[in-house]
Amino acid sequence: MIEELLRPKVVINVACSLDGIIATNKGPLDLSNEEDWSRVHTLRNNSDAILVGINTIINDNPGLKVKHVKLTPPHPYRVILDSCARIPLDAKVLQEQATFPTILFTSEITKSKSLVLKEKGVSIEIVNKTEKGFLDLGMILDILYKKYNIKKLMVEGGGKVVASFITYKLVDELIIFYAPTFVGSIDGIPLFPVKAKETISAHDRIQNLDCKKMGDGFLIKIQYGENKCQ
Ligand SMILES: NC(=O)c1ccc[n+]([C@@H]2O[C@H](COP(=O)([O-])OP(=O)(O)OC[C@H]3O[C@@H](n4cnc5c(N)ncnc54)[C@H](OP(=O)(O)O)[C@@H]3O)[C@@H](O)[C@H]2O)c1
Repeated sequence: MIEELLRPKVVINVACSLDGIIATNKGPLDLSNEEDWSRVHTLRNNSDAILVGINTIINDNPGLKVKHVKLTPPHPYRVILDSCARIPLDAKVLQEQATFPTILFTSEITKSKSLVLKEKGVSIEIVNKTEKGFLDLGMILDILYKKYNIKKLMVEGGGKVVASFITYKLVDELIIFYAPTFVGSIDGIPLFPVKAKETISAHDRIQNLDCKKMGDGFLIKIQYGENKCQ
């Protein structure tokens, strides 16, 4: 009998400019406003884990902690996708493991690096890569659900990770804060870094999109599910 793959509810949250840019090659952008920050941290607090790709760790060195709102313990797991274990040993997400636990998903890691990370208290999970060369998201979600009891996963980016979850239809809700600014796409990192579709039909249009003003920007929420276009 084939064991059923189970997964947490997946909520993607990102902030971008009006021209769909989430960061530049030179570093992060300050896109959220105060209202949005408190929404983001409430969402972190209400999630069992917060996931990012390794480029976000290398470029921004985020702590991925709940701030601005009162934490409802335990702190959500911090989850990193990092095929070749490129994570710098002084990354903020590797610190304070007793309070802010981290799970690193990888497909290849040296014994010495694995030992150092384990000594810090980091959990390491080895998973396969798909034919596209990325870590297998289905396996990752299954492990998060079954081994770590993660029922709600917040995916924070960056663009490649967001694109993977959307492409593989592993998202239940997509939330995008649009900041009222243009960044420029020549050296910007896009929200959805995949090849453009040649045509768009009515079928490709997202059906249930909710939009509201948030301070000087606006917030879009898309619910995915049966019969809902991805
Ligand atoms: N505005 C926002 O809301 C926001 C939020 C977060 C981040 N960001 C920005 O996003 C930028 C980085 O974005 P990015 O697109 O370059 O990289 P990313 O999504 O942060 O990381 C992508 C990397 O993760 C690894 N990975 C492993 N498994 C993967 C999978 N299944 N799908 C996708 N990636 C997988 C791959 O590296 P390996 O092959 O080495 O494993 C891949 O190149 C940062 O500069 C940051 O500032 C913005």
